[in-house]
Amino acid sequence: MPTTRATPSTSAPAPASSAGQQTANRLLRSTAARSYDPELEIDWSAPLLDGSWFIPEHRCSLYGTALWHGLTPAQRIELSRHEAASVAGTGIWLELILMRMLTKLAYCGDASTARVQYALAEVAEECRHTIMFARLIDKLGTPTYHPGLVVTALGRMLPEVASGPAMWAAILLGEEITDRFQREMADDDRIQPVVRMVNRIHITEEARHIGFAREELSSAVARTRAAELPAQRYLIARMGYLIARNLVNPQVYRAVGLDPRTARLAALANPRHQETIRFGGEKILAFLAEQGLVGSPGLTWWRRSFLLAAHNREQNT
Ligand SMILES: [Fe+2]
Ligand SMILES: [Fe+2]
Repeated sequence: MPTTRATPSTSAPAPASSAGQQTANRLLRSTAARSYDPELEIDWSAPLLDGSWFIPEHRCSLYGTALWHGLTPAQRIELSRHEAASVAGTGIWLELILMRMLTKLAYCGDASTARVQYALAEVAEECRHTIMFARLIDKLGTPTYHPGLVVTALGRMLPEVASGPAMWAAILLGEEITDRFQREMADDDRIQPVVRMVNRIHITEEARHIGFAREELSSAVARTRAAELPAQRYLIARMGYLIARNLVNPQVYRAVGLDPRTARLAALANPRHQETIRFGGEKILAFLAEQGLVGSPGLTWWRRSFLLAAHNREQNT
């Protein structure tokens, strides 16, 4: 855990270090060289393939449960279609929150710096991602799933209340959990081509975003007073729980004739689904733990989220 605490405030705009400026300059060059326009890169008119999955079978929330065994093969694929749409809907919610956080950085910062310019370049990419996820949902022909009213209200407040390490952790939780699932699917030819193409574009551009946010988080931790860290740890754990719980909207189960409440409880009790959530959070949780941001208070929320592996839960108690 970093021990240097140089300045007392986590909300003040961060000074741009020369290392941070160098990183931002490199990312700006990479953005110019390798960005995608999903409108042009994806053949949105191509038909969906019969019998192809929309997410991997073993990542479906009910996989292996009695409810899963009661579904026909076609219903299982149909559920994977709605779970893919649910993740895309949550992706839109997260992208909109991330864009507000990045524009907050730009609003408080010096626009002549590479750091602020890269934040704005990232907003442009996230804006295209939001439209890409929206087009994917349209292509899937499902309802647009999004978090409920309370979670939407919390998400609206988040860019106002999250600053310093918590702001970057929120960004990284949103980016890295979905990135982990998308990387697993990108080269899996059992998955619908349109889903794989969306994933490939997102993975390429998110690699830059994740690199930027990880560096920003490390320098935000170094500027944070030790006394402020418990509040940061709690807020981050709470955000991790919210994101994990909102990946699969319970309404998806209606598509295959299941009661949303019953199926939701079965999914949450499903060890395979719990393992899927842990898989999604594995890399970001390891990074947050390295930064001293996984621990008390907040462990209850990490445990409930399933993001924290059992052996890590004990280490961080
Ligand atoms: Fe994105
Ligand atoms: Fe991103």
